[in-house]
Amino acid sequence: MKHEITETTDLTHCHALRRTVFIEEQNVSEADEMDGLDAEAIHLIATCDGKPAGTARLLIRGETGKIGRVAVLREHRGTGLGAAIMRQAEAALRSRPGVTRLYLSAQTHALPFYEKLGYVAYGPEYDDAGIPHRDMEKRLDR
Ligand code: COA
Repeated sequence: MKHEITETTDLTHCHALRRTVFIEEQNVSEADEMDGLDAEAIHLIATCDGKPAGTARLLIRGETGKIGRVAVLREHRGTGLGAAIMRQAEAALRSRPGVTRLYLSAQTHALPFYEKLGYVAYGPEYDDAGIPHRDMEKRLDR
């Protein structure tokens, strides 16, 4: 299947994907999922053969680019799409001047996924929206 990943300002498909994966599959509350930060974020949409299949949300906080809301529809998992979204997220943040570090709050089950992409976990495990998480970072050498 041919996939394409682009930045988008139309959040219709991003929200639908996040609803399916986080609210319906992972039981995250609507209030936790829709946190009011979408308007200031950069959004990625991934399509497979033209159909929405994955998304991610990027926020810039000073020197830190924060990658979140990384979601791939169940039927597309294990195909490399999640890793492709992460590489595109990194490229998008590298292109923004002043970003020297990537940060994410990883659900602990996904730690190996992010470790393969060069992210390093630090600090203790904590709860967010009822799901165990750890902080991870990747330093960018420019
Ligand atoms: N545990 C261990 N390894 C994993 C993994 C997991 N949960 N998920 C992916 N990997 C590995 C793959 O085996 C693959 O390894 P390889 O390069 O050696 O072949 C690599 O990571 C890339 O996998 P990929 O196919 O690109 O991942 P994906 O498309 O399945 O997407 C998620 C991964 C986490 C984005 C996807 O499972 C998902 O959307 N889950 C539900 C939402 C979620 O939990 N998001 C993360 C929030 S922090």
